[in-house]
Amino acid sequence: MSQTARSEPADARLKVHALARTDARARFAEDVRRGLTAAPKRLQPKYFYDQLGSLLFDAICLLPEYYLTRAEDEILRAGADEIVAAVAGEGGAPLSLLEFGSGSAAKTRLLIEAALRRQSRLLYRPVDISATALEVSARSLLQSYPQLGVEAFAGDYDAALARLKRDARGGGSPDDGARTLALFLGSNVGNFDPAEAEQFLTAARACLRADDALLLGADLKKDASVLLAAYDDPLGLTAAFNLNLLARINREFAADFDLRGFRHRVRYDEPAGRVEIYVESLRAQRVRVRELGLTVSFDEGEWTHTENSHKYDPAQLKSLAASTGFRLSRTWTDAAGRFSSNLFVAA
Ligand code: TRP
Repeated sequence: MSQTARSEPADARLKVHALARTDARARFAEDVRRGLTAAPKRLQPKYFYDQLGSLLFDAICLLPEYYLTRAEDEILRAGADEIVAAVAGEGGAPLSLLEFGSGSAAKTRLLIEAALRRQSRLLYRPVDISATALEVSARSLLQSYPQLGVEAFAGDYDAALARLKRDARGGGSPDDGARTLALFLGSNVGNFDPAEAEQFLTAARACLRADDALLLGADLKKDASVLLAAYDDPLGLTAAFNLNLLARINREFAADFDLRGFRHRVRYDEPAGRVEIYVESLRAQRVRVRELGLTVSFDEGEWTHTENSHKYDPAQLKSLAASTGFRLSRTWTDAAGRFSSNLFVAA
């Protein structure tokens, strides 16, 4: 608290970079057109997260069935000090935090607090596709922590990775001598297929220096019934989150998806270790996407793919680290062994 008086006002400690390209709407349009004219049809999960979608996801994180959030929270509550100390190393280097897909940044608080128990100031660089989620979370963090500075990047991962790599090369990133602890929490990595996960982590590694680290959240393989309940809750929040993608297309491109004509569907592909999420068309129907000049026909019972959520085992995580320029130095799990937090140290 003694720091409060000396710290700068919250606004002066916030910098926001809008990376969203001017053609963001055109890209969304193109992706919708391509996905809805493909066979089988598909939509990309990054478009879940408009303002309503980000709020619905926060609500999902409160569901008892969505154990992932609580399991990771349990790990970070018990382990944040250890994690931060492991990255700081013997020399006790100061840290800066970088987070991909920060969302509401609720769990990040545990790591921020652990870092601030060791150092008097901290730079936090969140990346999120939702500019609103980013602004709201940044302001709330700055209110809570007078010792914090936030440099936020609003945009998708590709845009952020390109920018951060440039900053790292130019030495323009964190305070000199600080080590970066990058965070990729929740089941964010699970939404990539294995090849995309490798690409992402390789690109993230290029934004880091040797001995920097990345804390990777990964949901673990387990009984299908537990996984399916996490992605198809009886209250229907996950269904609303999924169908909001169609509603967003209605809002942004004047489409006429009748949401009652579609249903949230989930299956677990056990050999592939992934939960697959779809919307099913409940009848034969045509949907007009007016602003794209597109009419799409759906068969009764047709499934449109919206997301995969891959589940990992320890051997896969170890080889993922090795193939992307990291070393898996340590894994923490919750007491029930449902979820893992993996410290990937930049080799
Ligand atoms: N990254 C989250 C996960 O894979 C996203 C998510 C949770 C999700 N529930 C969902 C995506 C339902 C689509 C539908 O766990």
